[in-house]
Amino acid sequence: MTDDALLFQRACLYAESKAIGLESKDRLGHGSDGSVWKSSVPTAVKALYSQKNYLHELECYTRLKNAGVQQINGFFVPVLEGFDDSLMVIEISIVKPPYLLDFGKVYIDEPPPYYNDAQLMANAQAEWRGWFGKHWIRVAGVLRLLQKYGIYYMDPRPSNICTGEEDDEEDDSTDWSEMPAEEEDE
Ligand SMILES: Nc1ncnc2c1ncn2[C@@H]1O[C@H](COP(=O)(O)OP(=O)(O)OP(=O)(O)O)[C@@H](O)[C@H]1O
Ligand SMILES: [Mg+2]
Repeated sequence: MTDDALLFQRACLYAESKAIGLESKDRLGHGSDGSVWKSSVPTAVKALYSQKNYLHELECYTRLKNAGVQQINGFFVPVLEGFDDSLMVIEISIVKPPYLLDFGKVYIDEPPPYYNDAQLMANAQAEWRGWFGKHWIRVAGVLRLLQKYGIYYMDPRPSNICTGEEDDEEDDSTDWSEMPAEEEDE
C-alpha cells in the first residue's frame, strides 16, 4: 500500500469512529506532513505521518481553541473538532481565505535553536517576505501574535498562510528586517 493509501486508511478509521463520511476524491490537500480530506460534516480530517508533527499540531489547535481564538490578525484559524492519538488524525473546521493553518512544524514554548542566529533568521525572513510581498507585514504580525500562545510558527508559506489575494508574490521592496510591533488580535 502507498503512503497516501495508508494515511487514507487511518483517516477512514477515524471517520468511522465518529460516524462521519469520508471519500478519497474529497482530498483538500497534501504535503510533507500528511493528507487532508473534507468529511461529510463538513470538516477537514488530517492524517499525519509522524507523531511529533501530530502532537505539535494537536497542541496548537488545543491552545487556540481553549483561548477562544478563531482568527489572528484577520486570518481565520481552524477550530479543533476532534482527534485520535492512536490514528494520528485531527479533525478541524474548514476555513476559507484569508486563513492560517498547518501547525505541524512549529516549536512550542521555546524558539528553535537557530532563532537567535541573526544572519540565519534574516535569510529566512527575506525568503518569507519574497513569498508574501506586500502582505508580509500582516503575516509577520500573525507570527508575532502566535507567540502569545507559546507557538513559534516556522513554516509561513502561502499554502499555510493564505491571504486569498493573487498578488502574494508582489514585493513592495520595503525593508521589514524587524518584525512589526505586537498588535491586538480580534
Ligand atoms: N481546515 C482546512 N480548511 C481548508 N483547507 C484546508 C484545511 N486543512 C488543510 N487544507 C488544505 O490542504 C492543504 C494541505 O494541508 P496542510 O498544510 O495541513 O498539510 P501538510 O501535509 O502539513 O502540508 P506541508 O507540506 O505544508 O507540511 C492546505 O494547503 C490547504 O489547501
Ligand atoms: Mg502545509
